[in-house]
Amino acid sequence: MATLWGGRFTKEMDDTVKLYQDSFPYDKRLFEEDVEGSLAHCKMLVRQGILSEGDGKAITDGLNSIRDDVHAGKLEVAGDYEDIHTFVEEVLTERIGDAGKRLHTGRSRNDQIALDMRLFTRKKILEMRGQILTLLSILLQKMKENEDTIMPGFTHLQKAQPITLAHHMGSYFEMFRRDVTRLDDLYERMNYCPLGSGAFAGTTYPLDREYTAELLGFKAATNNSQDSVSDRDYIIEFLSDMSLIMMHLSRFAEETVIWNTNEYRFIEIDDAYSTGSSIMPQKKNPDIAELLRGKTGRVYGSLMGMLTVMKGLPLAYDKDIQEDKEGYFDAVDTTMLSIELAGQMLDTARFNEKRMADSASGGFTNATDAADYLVTKGIPFRDAHGIIGRIVLYCIEKNKSMNELSLEEYKTFSPAFEQDIYQAIDLTTCVERRLTKGAPGKAAMDQEITDSEEFLAGEKARTFQGIPGGEIS
Ligand code: ARG
Repeated sequence: MATLWGGRFTKEMDDTVKLYQDSFPYDKRLFEEDVEGSLAHCKMLVRQGILSEGDGKAITDGLNSIRDDVHAGKLEVAGDYEDIHTFVEEVLTERIGDAGKRLHTGRSRNDQIALDMRLFTRKKILEMRGQILTLLSILLQKMKENEDTIMPGFTHLQKAQPITLAHHMGSYFEMFRRDVTRLDDLYERMNYCPLGSGAFAGTTYPLDREYTAELLGFKAATNNSQDSVSDRDYIIEFLSDMSLIMMHLSRFAEETVIWNTNEYRFIEIDDAYSTGSSIMPQKKNPDIAELLRGKTGRVYGSLMGMLTVMKGLPLAYDKDIQEDKEGYFDAVDTTMLSIELAGQMLDTARFNEKRMADSASGGFTNATDAADYLVTKGIPFRDAHGIIGRIVLYCIEKNKSMNELSLEEYKTFSPAFEQDIYQAIDLTTCVERRLTKGAPGKAAMDQEITDSEEFLAGEKARTFQGIPGGEIS
């Protein structure tokens, strides 16, 4: 097998050890990043007079030819190599000879992988951010379409007060809004270049680390070289951000499952995002929503895995750190697919407005408003609460809704009731009167929608070191 370090060894590596320690099966995914970093490193070495112009050109042409061949499908990123760095360097040296062996001057695989992982992370943050912006656009659209769609709001999964579907969608808009800003913060914090930190103690070559950082679009070079090769905080942060995104998707998924039940029927998931049963012909199951919920567990697992890998690691680089990849890549892929599918599922779903309105009028969701009505008639809220509680009990016994009680019946509970009670407990009135900031009443909701639109436009226009951060995905 190809390694970059055979000199002081007298024996071939044991086969099982090789299986255990080779990272090529999964770090080959970092091919693009590895080449990009090598091109920048080479350019800087030439500029600093560490490499000759001739070697620099040979290396640059060689790396570009490798990249082109991989893109064209003429060269496969595969074979018996220890890792992606070995693959690139070996293929380069096969192609251009000795100059290829000079590329690693002033560099270690420790700062090389630290760079590759940062480049990968940076790219994925922007892609994921773009996906969430798409999801936010879909949510915003649903908000605009459903300002008058009355539904019951729930606490303890019990019908509580009437709201609108726009208001409900707005809750998810807020969750994913926070997720976008978290990714923005992370990008700013992690956008520093570790290349040039060497194995961990820097190097004696006169590298220009700021120049490499600039070439690769980083804000600057990282500081302490020991920390630079062993820091994986940004991976843990990204995993934590993804865990929150998945938690939000999972809550949305759980509601979708509930709303899709035969009992609720608030939502009809499009056939393209549902599955059937092999035995029960009538079934149309919300598998995608269930998988969104289930895959959340996997992403949390990767976060816990990575926190545990890093715990107790002495400085600087230890091979444990190589375990930063598989769970992380899986989490990134899982989260990105999940965001995309959740958006599509929502976009294509149909909401059953009638079911929602009927459900809202069935469960005493206007009881709070009835109590508030009595307050306007001078009754203290605590007493009003007790009166309405007794009315609800009465209605349950009589199997009636509050709208169906006669004024005479109302008056047996309190003389304060008058004809205008019916207007006060009408669901539309109940929603329309909720006008505090963030409430579902139309004027408040209009404001929330405007605010959400402005947020989305601002985020779409945002750039990161010159890279447009809009819907990149
Ligand atoms: N495959 C290694 C990793 O992913 C690259 C760094 C190897 N460094 C070393 N000293 N063995 O972390």
